[in-house]
Amino acid sequence: MKVFQFSYPVYAKADLPSHLLNLVLEAEAISANAYAPYSNFNVGAALLLGNGTIVTGANQENAAYPSGICAERTAIYYAGAQHPKEQILAIAFAAKRSGENNFLAVAPCGACRQAILEYESKQELSIMQVIPLGDDNFAVVPSIANLLPFSFDKDSL
Ligand code: THU
Repeated sequence: MKVFQFSYPVYAKADLPSHLLNLVLEAEAISANAYAPYSNFNVGAALLLGNGTIVTGANQENAAYPSGICAERTAIYYAGAQHPKEQILAIAFAAKRSGENNFLAVAPCGACRQAILEYESKQELSIMQVIPLGDDNFAVVPSIANLLPFSFDKDSL
C-alpha cells in the first residue's frame, strides 16, 4: 500500500507571513474586476514572481459559457506572456459572490491546477498555494503537485 499525503500550515489571516498576506489582499482586491454576469461569482488570483512583481487576474465570463476563463489562468497566462523568465513563487486566491461582503473558502478548479502545474513543471520550482479555508483561515500548500496527484505533465509525453 502506498500513501499520498502532504503537510501544510494553516494561518489566521493576521498571522500570514507579510508577503503572503499581501498576496491575499491583492487577490481579494482584483476579484472586484471579475466580469462574472452569469455566475455572479467573482474570483481573484495573485501571483508572486521571483523579482517581487505581483501579477493579478480575475475571472472573465462569456455569453458562450465555455469561452470564459478563470481568474487563475487569466493571471498565470499573463505572467507567462509578460514575464516568461521570472519564476512563480506563490499564488493566492479569493472569491466572493456579487452583493456579498465575505470572501469564501475556495480552491483552484481542476483545469487551473493543470495550468499551474505546467508552470511549476517548466520552472522546476514548487509554486506555493495560499488557499482560503473560511473563518479567516488560510492553508499554505507547498506545491500545486500536492493538489494534483497522479498528474499529467511534460514528462508524461
Ligand atoms: N472560477 C475561477 O475563476 N476559478 C476557479 O478556480 C473556479 C471557478 C470562475 C469561473 C466562473 O467564471 C465562475 O468562477 C463560476 O464557476
